[in-house]
Amino acid sequence: MSETEKGQARAAGRSVHDVLATDAVPAPPPLLASAYDFLGDADLDAQRYTDPGFAAKEMTKMWAKTWQWACREEHIPEAGDRYVYDIGPYSVIISRDDTGVLHAFRNSCTHRGTRLIGSEGTGFGTGITCPFHGWSWHCDGTLEQIPAKWDFPHVQPQTHDLRPVACAVWGGFIFINLDTAATPLSDQLEVMSEHFEHFPLDTRRIKVHVQKRLPANWKAAQEAFLEAYHNVETHHSPNGANTQYDIFGRFVTRFIHNTGTYSPESLNDYPGTEWRDPVLTEAEILARTVGVTRELEAGETARAVAAEDGRSRLANALGESQADLSDSQILDSIEYHLFPNMFFFPGINIPMVYRFRPDGDQVDTCLFDLLILEPWPVGQAKPFPPEPVFLDVNQSYTDVPELGWLGRVYDEDTGNLALQQQGLKSAGKGLTLGNYQEARIRRIHQTLDEFLKA
Ligand code: FES
Ligand SMILES: [Fe+2]
Repeated sequence: MSETEKGQARAAGRSVHDVLATDAVPAPPPLLASAYDFLGDADLDAQRYTDPGFAAKEMTKMWAKTWQWACREEHIPEAGDRYVYDIGPYSVIISRDDTGVLHAFRNSCTHRGTRLIGSEGTGFGTGITCPFHGWSWHCDGTLEQIPAKWDFPHVQPQTHDLRPVACAVWGGFIFINLDTAATPLSDQLEVMSEHFEHFPLDTRRIKVHVQKRLPANWKAAQEAFLEAYHNVETHHSPNGANTQYDIFGRFVTRFIHNTGTYSPESLNDYPGTEWRDPVLTEAEILARTVGVTRELEAGETARAVAAEDGRSRLANALGESQADLSDSQILDSIEYHLFPNMFFFPGINIPMVYRFRPDGDQVDTCLFDLLILEPWPVGQAKPFPPEPVFLDVNQSYTDVPELGWLGRVYDEDTGNLALQQQGLKSAGKGLTLGNYQEARIRRIHQTLDEFLKA
């Protein structure tokens, strides 16, 4: 096979583009765009996932120099509100000062280094006081008081304000970067700035937040969500075999897979899929997609009916017509990944946000934040976000009733991770990736290498 042919093969059946082209309410331009380049087919070294030395290098050369979202704006709506965000050994305080302006600082005393606020999450204070000797700072990070000031003539506000961290807001998310010399967040967002003008996330609110410790390196864990290749074996789902994968740049990739359609020929290459239905009627597809059981008129499609059902439910919830909202936005699994660890789903029926982080300095476990966002009426105050539900490694997502049927799906998605992390240690070879379906994984590793080599 020539180099130019590599990565060009696709699954049989209708493509995402074919499906979107016949939708009743057409998709906006970003969803019709596609971008793919062959990125190579060499194996990935397994020690990238298992070596504590590699993880330590990631921490100092990548995590300490990349933009990452820490919390949502609604976590700290008022003056004096603050949020503590931890990444590996680093900890950051995001604070709203008396005039409502956001600041971010290192969560460390400028006297002898004590961590100022103990645990991650939301809090409030008229200022910040160190629990050791009582130095204090205003909400904007400027030094307020030093006990026994006579002994510190060498300490001035300019020299001992809290150490700043870069901070920016996008889509209702507050991002931080420990590297104050970093290029702006907009550089890292690449096409997302433009694409998400069609998918505003700042008007959504957090409906559910689950944080789980997973038994794998943070990269292995997130990679279980970057491809739909696993859908057949792991979920016994016929959806996903003809998922579209896009590589938009160094930092942003995407997949789109359709719901409300059925393409059995896309599974022709999968052994052991006798469970699939050879053919489904549109009424059967509708019942499986949105649980609506009814006869369809001649010419009606499950996808159009399911999308219309979604539009009318959303219009009722928001008190505003949703007639222009495309079928794809209502129904499809549209997943943008922002380097290094952030997933944003702009869809309505599939409206998640994921974040995967190292678990302290552990290489074999990670923390997975799963948020479900819901559109919220513009101009109406958002309720305070729910406290995260914490699940430890051996707990099940089905313990979280708010997740409904998704609990079983997340158990399936995370159920292979311990085996993968163990297997990587005795692999004796690297990881092999599909040229198209797993190209997003390769892109992230290539960008990670750029950080590690810098
Ligand atoms: S270490 Fe913070 S006041 Fe001394
Ligand atoms: Fe999955």
